[in-house]
Amino acid sequence: WSRVVVAVDGPAGSGKSSVSRAAARALGYEFLDTGAAYRALAWLGLDRGIDFDDEDAIVSLLDELGDGISTDPDDLRVTIGGTDVTEDIRQPRVSKVVSAVARVPEVRTRLNEGFRSRLNAPGRPGIVAEGRDITTVVAPDAPVRVLLTADEGVRIQRRRAELTDQSAADVARSVTDRDRKDSKVVDFMTAAEGVTTLDSTDLSFDETVDAMVALVRSAA
Ligand code: C5P
Repeated sequence: WSRVVVAVDGPAGSGKSSVSRAAARALGYEFLDTGAAYRALAWLGLDRGIDFDDEDAIVSLLDELGDGISTDPDDLRVTIGGTDVTEDIRQPRVSKVVSAVARVPEVRTRLNEGFRSRLNAPGRPGIVAEGRDITTVVAPDAPVRVLLTADEGVRIQRRRAELTDQSAADVARSVTDRDRKDSKVVDFMTAAEGVTTLDSTDLSFDETVDAMVALVRSAA
């Protein structure tokens, strides 16, 4: 790698995004939210009204996706062809269909190529990349690899705090359903060999960020 790559994986609601972003900021690194690319592709599919069982239709959207994910942890924007979709891609309607997009092998291959070139791009001295298969597929040789976990009940609680307009049952279902679907494609529930598990169940947000920063400082 041309710079320090910090690979972070974990299930829905583990705090991956917010913790990785804060750690990147503290370290003066960039931040790559790979889930945003899958979400952007799902958003595009909804916008075009495609059938999510049709893999060819999903793959054909890849060319339109572009490279609209910023890696500045202080200004994270997602754009598709000039349209800002930063907030839209977090909507439940996108979360519901994103796993269908993520299970298409050609989607994963193509997005992964883009992620690797972003990791190696010139810029800050390091980059924290977060997703489901960063420690195992995208950057298995990264100098720092972390699996961020938390008990399922805690993860559901944290998601509920973010999605206050949804019922408790809906939030719980969306977390468990998405993990179940995603787990069929990549394993992010158990740490691969050499990957450090960081369990945030009993840690505050700041404590989790500090632990991640300490892991990077000791390894990088
Ligand atoms: O991390 P986030 O919840 O935003 O990810 C959205 C979806 O993108 C996941 O549910 C999963 O289907 C997919 N994803 C993936 N591989 C990654 C990152 C995300 O399959 N590296």
